[in-house]
Amino acid sequence: MNLREQFPLLASDPGIHYLDSGASSQVPQAVLDAVHTFETAQRANVHRGVHRLAEAATAAYEGARYEIAAFFSGRRDEIVLTSGTTAAINLVAHSFGDGLKPGDEIVITEIEHHSNIVPWQMLRDRRGLVLKALPVTVEGRIDLSALDGMVTKKTKLIALAHCSNVTGAVADLAKVVAAAKAVGAAVLVDGAQRVPHGPLDIPALGVDFYAFSGHKMYAPHGIGVLWGKRERLEAMPPFLGGGDMIRHVTIEKTTYAPPPTRFEAGTPNISGAIGLGAACRWMSGLDWKAIAQEEMRLTGRVLDGLAKVPGARVVGPLGLQQRIGVVSFALGQAHPHDVAQILDRHGVACRGGHHCAEPLMDRFDLMGTTRASIAPYTEDADIDALLEGVDEARRLLG
Ligand code: ALA
Repeated sequence: MNLREQFPLLASDPGIHYLDSGASSQVPQAVLDAVHTFETAQRANVHRGVHRLAEAATAAYEGARYEIAAFFSGRRDEIVLTSGTTAAINLVAHSFGDGLKPGDEIVITEIEHHSNIVPWQMLRDRRGLVLKALPVTVEGRIDLSALDGMVTKKTKLIALAHCSNVTGAVADLAKVVAAAKAVGAAVLVDGAQRVPHGPLDIPALGVDFYAFSGHKMYAPHGIGVLWGKRERLEAMPPFLGGGDMIRHVTIEKTTYAPPPTRFEAGTPNISGAIGLGAACRWMSGLDWKAIAQEEMRLTGRVLDGLAKVPGARVVGPLGLQQRIGVVSFALGQAHPHDVAQILDRHGVACRGGHHCAEPLMDRFDLMGTTRASIAPYTEDADIDALLEGVDEARRLLG
């Protein structure tokens, strides 16, 4: 399957080996075309004007919401369009979290991205809550055997990543949902690293909130989604005020629109939403069984290649079960920025650093790692270049 040619940036230069899709994916022509059509033929604000461009823009924006909902098996009123995963988690931390009482407990994990740590620390400090974190195993997975001891009658929310942006481990959400249900707690999942890897039936997961970003799933930056169970969203007050989120405003008070509009104050990222809808449409047309096999074959090549490099240490599962194609490694005492710069000389784009997951780096006693992340457009030539670059980095820095 040659998907590379559908991505103009990759197709324009065979010397680019883009292994940084975990940070931001590339964008296919189909998505660029949808955004171009909006900007050149439909551009206007949404939900406001009655002129034909305003109506076309509203239809395109709401049409995108339907496409996103269909792709994730949700309902349109469960899809809140946000600027990304971080905004979606902060929305829950305010609209759900501000209803919590001093002494209530929230459980997160040591594997989380800062976006799924900091909003809960801020909420803890605002509301006098208790914040606990599940530990991480030596294999780089959330240690779910600790759930029993950590989840109590006071637990109101468990927030965790579906797939780690550092180790690539996929969490066993069913176990977390069962533990949360037993005490009546809600579950929020950071799905940012899961959604680029194929369709997902979000309601079937049994979680209450699922947050993700467009820019990691072949769509523009600055657009994302909070999926929320309808009953949860209906029970939540708005976070930001203004614009579309109202039903009626007087100088004394405001009544609010129902979800999802209640949570979309101000002019939204209209072209971004249209791009995300187009990305869902583009993804729907792919053979994800074949892509998953290919992504795992290439991930296996990276793991096998690193196993032969003296001083290389993979931080994450060494096998291919319950993992995505995100592989992090340390190379002796070399600084990950130095490794990433040497890789860049080979045309290889990798992220080096703490990956916005400093508690996880502390867990492994590392300042950072170098991370290669695999996408449907990754090819053998990209892995060859990566392994050649790692070999050079070992010789120069090891
Ligand atoms: N969260 C993104 C990453 O892990 C930026 O690289």
